[in-house]
This record gives sequence, C-alpha cells and structure tokens, in this order.
Amino acid sequence: MKQKIVVFTGAGVSAESGIQTFRDGDGLWENHDIQEVATPEAWSKKPKLVLDFYNERRKQVLKATPNEAHKTLVLLEQFFDVQIITQNIDDLHERAGSTKVLHLHGEILKARSTFDDQLYDWKKPTLKLGDKCPKGYQLRPHVVWFGESVPNMIVAANCCEGANLLIVIGTSLNVYPAANIVNFVPEDCKKYLIDPKIQQSFIGNNIELIEKKAGEGVVELVNQLLSLKENV
Ligand code: APR
Repeated sequence: MKQKIVVFTGAGVSAESGIQTFRDGDGLWENHDIQEVATPEAWSKKPKLVLDFYNERRKQVLKATPNEAHKTLVLLEQFFDVQIITQNIDDLHERAGSTKVLHLHGEILKARSTFDDQLYDWKKPTLKLGDKCPKGYQLRPHVVWFGESVPNMIVAANCCEGANLLIVIGTSLNVYPAANIVNFVPEDCKKYLIDPKIQQSFIGNNIELIEKKAGEGVVELVNQLLSLKENV
C-alpha cells in the first residue's frame, strides 16, 4: 500500500513560471482592488472590469509553462499516492503531468454559465461580455470570488484523511477556508512548508521548514523522499 502525500500549493509554486502571486511585493493585490475585480458585487456592477482582470490572468497562464517544482512533484507518483490540492487557477500541475489535482479556487481555463453553473473549457485568451453558454446566458470565469463558497472544500478535507505527508508550497495561508487544509491532515502526518519567506507564525508549529523557492526546495525534498524509498 503506497504512502499518501497531500501537496497543498498556492501562487508561489507558479511564481517561477512567470505567474504573479497575490501578496508579494509586486503581487496582484498591490495593484488591483479585490473589491473591484474579484467579488460577486464587482461582477454585477462592472462585469467588463472583472472580465478584463481575468483575461490578463488567463493570458499569463497560456504563456506560462510548468517549472521544476511542478515537474518534480510528478516524480513522487512512482512511489506515493499523491493528491495535489491547489489554490491556483492555472493548469500547470496538470500540464506537468500530475494525475490527481483538486482546484479550490476554480480554473481560469474554464468558463461557467451564469444560468446553471455548467462549465465549458475556455482556452481563448479573452472571455467577453456577449460570450454566452448554449442556453444564451453570459459566461463568467470559473473562479471562486471573495465571499463565494468553496465547493471543493469538503472533497479536499476527505482527500486529507489518512495522509502520511503534507507538503505545503508557496502559500501565505492568508485565505480561508483553504488555509484550513493544514488542519485536516491527521495529527501524526509529517508536514513540510516550502517558501522563501517563512512567516514567524509557522516556526515551531511541528512543520519542517524549507526556506527556499519552490524550484529548489521541491527538488531537494523530493530527492530526499525518493532516496528513502529507493533504499527500502
Ligand atoms: N517559491 C515558493 N514560494 C514563493 C515563491 C517561489 N518562487 N515566490 C513567492 N512565494 C511565496 C510567498 O512568500 C508567499 O508566501 O508564495 C506565497 C504567495 O502568497 P499569496 O500571494 O498570498 O498567494 P496564495 O497564498 O496562493 O493566495 C491564496 O488568495 O487572493 C486569493 O484566490 C487567491 O488563491 C489565492 C489565495
């Protein structure tokens, strides 16, 4: 029976692929007002502004490629049952080859009908006002906005059951309920945090800290885990 690893990722895992994070120095929320572009109220008041914001996000994702961190995580699947749970709306884990990826905050390469929440692949750079579902209703980005529920949270909690290892990569753990993932794994689950700027609050929280960028920290940890397996 393979040991189970849950990998919980945030914007930092895609930073080295050229996708902006949210709360770093040059982060998205430094230059955009969440209330203007990432809430249901913004969508009802200024849908074009919201669509333009996510069109920029989608263009960044379409230009990006998986980095060393995304690719190295796939190697774990040889010896472990690996479940990726990501806050990211890009498809870089999937493009790298990870086979079990759960998105908590949606997927930018999908559009959602404002009538029945039906999803449609949307790989065109822009989604505009007037782009409608087959039933004739406006499409919106398939992204969870602030103030909206996170439907995959229950599935994510179930994925954490029985985890032997939790690897947290590139998230400020600022946003709930997503950040609760770290509390859903069993008490005896070994935890690692990979981030170049570890927040003080994580020190002494029985998490092994790897204060490095994802590209380097993930390679280091995966090599360590695989060498343990190969020597068994
Ligand atoms: N490698 C690893 N971590 C990195 C790197 C890197 N190269 N660069 C930055 N980081 C770290 C930062 O230090 C920070 O801790 O990634 C984290 C990014 O934090 P945020 O920008 O807050 O992103 P995230 O935690 O994913 O945000 C959660 O907030 O706005 C919402 O829906 C949005 O899913 C997002 C959620």
